[in-house]
Amino acid sequence: MTTVLALETSCDETAVAILRGCDDHSHELLASEVASQVAAHEKFGGIVPEIASRNHLLYAPRLLDRVIRGAGIEMSVVDAFAATSGPGLASSLMIGASIAKGLAIGFSKPYVGINHLEGHLLSPFFGGADGDEQIKPNVSLIVSGGHTMSVLVRGLEDYELIGRTVDDAAGEAFDKVAKMLGLGYPGGPEIEERARGGDPTRFDLPRSMLGSEKFSFSGLKTAVRYLLPKIGVIPNESEGPRTRSLERRGPMGEQSPYERSFAFAQDDKLLSDLCASFQQAIIDVLVRKTIAAAQKCHVDLVTVSGGVSCNQELRRQLGEASRRAGFEFKNAESWLCTDNAAMIAFAALLRLRAGFQSNVTEEIDPNLALV
Ligand code: KG4
Ligand code: ZN
Repeated sequence: MTTVLALETSCDETAVAILRGCDDHSHELLASEVASQVAAHEKFGGIVPEIASRNHLLYAPRLLDRVIRGAGIEMSVVDAFAATSGPGLASSLMIGASIAKGLAIGFSKPYVGINHLEGHLLSPFFGGADGDEQIKPNVSLIVSGGHTMSVLVRGLEDYELIGRTVDDAAGEAFDKVAKMLGLGYPGGPEIEERARGGDPTRFDLPRSMLGSEKFSFSGLKTAVRYLLPKIGVIPNESEGPRTRSLERRGPMGEQSPYERSFAFAQDDKLLSDLCASFQQAIIDVLVRKTIAAAQKCHVDLVTVSGGVSCNQELRRQLGEASRRAGFEFKNAESWLCTDNAAMIAFAALLRLRAGFQSNVTEEIDPNLALV
């Protein structure tokens, strides 16, 4: 039995989890907590590193206490301490990694530094119904707020980059377009909600670089920007988003109601058709390129992970396209797609089982590459 405690503090979510690996290579998640900082950064229209690291410092000890109590264990039974060591914001990464290293030294246990992208990439194997820990060769699409890339995964630690974005990440495009439309942050769920029932063919938006393995989303964002005045909409150019239409939870899970106000007089049908058309343009590109990469790499399996893979339409369309092309398809459960520490604990468990551990002198690396 191997019990791993992991911290994830690469950006604006503070997360801690405890995962227990069993000798038959199955695992059990004993506790997983995420404290969101969305509300703290929203009014600035983006993430403020100084605020993020202060909040990590505030929330991490509370979450540590919560997961230990939730798991019903003593800290001394933890066999290894893991943390995200990059990529991400230096001052944020430092908090989680320092805590994990301190605990590893204090309890004389191994420390494992994990690449955030490897956490996402392995998350479809975390297992739901089948609980299958075996990492089968696959073409993996990682789509988050900071990254969009397709990777050939031959096995644990054996990754080859197929293509990445040359400009905006898919999640970044969702966030920027949502902001233009006066919607809240993060933009992905806001756009997805309004796209439901909208006509995805109403607005003809560009699908960039279809012939390449690389991705590009900034042209799509610009196309939406220029389309808005033509359809009578004044884009929101302010620093922060002006609409928060969804009820959100506070940093420690408490309910916090947000005001409802629209940035511009909006006809619901126009907004939902625009959101659906934009969402479909992103999905078309992601699906086309992922299937083409899987065909080229001769794998049997396609996987998708990262915050954007919460998007139900993307999951449905990529799943259908994969099966039509003869591939098996795996996506992580929704709660595992956005940043969390369970995926970091899982990557650490697999690495520990493969005989790997990091040195406590290993530094965090804000630009840490996956391959
Ligand atoms: O993986 P993640 O939590 O953080 C990073 O590592 O970046 O991803 C966050 C990104 C945000 O850009 C957010 O807008 C996007 O994931 N996202 C979505 C959805 N939920 C989150 N994008 C599209 N549809 C969603 N339902
Ligand atoms: Zn992430």
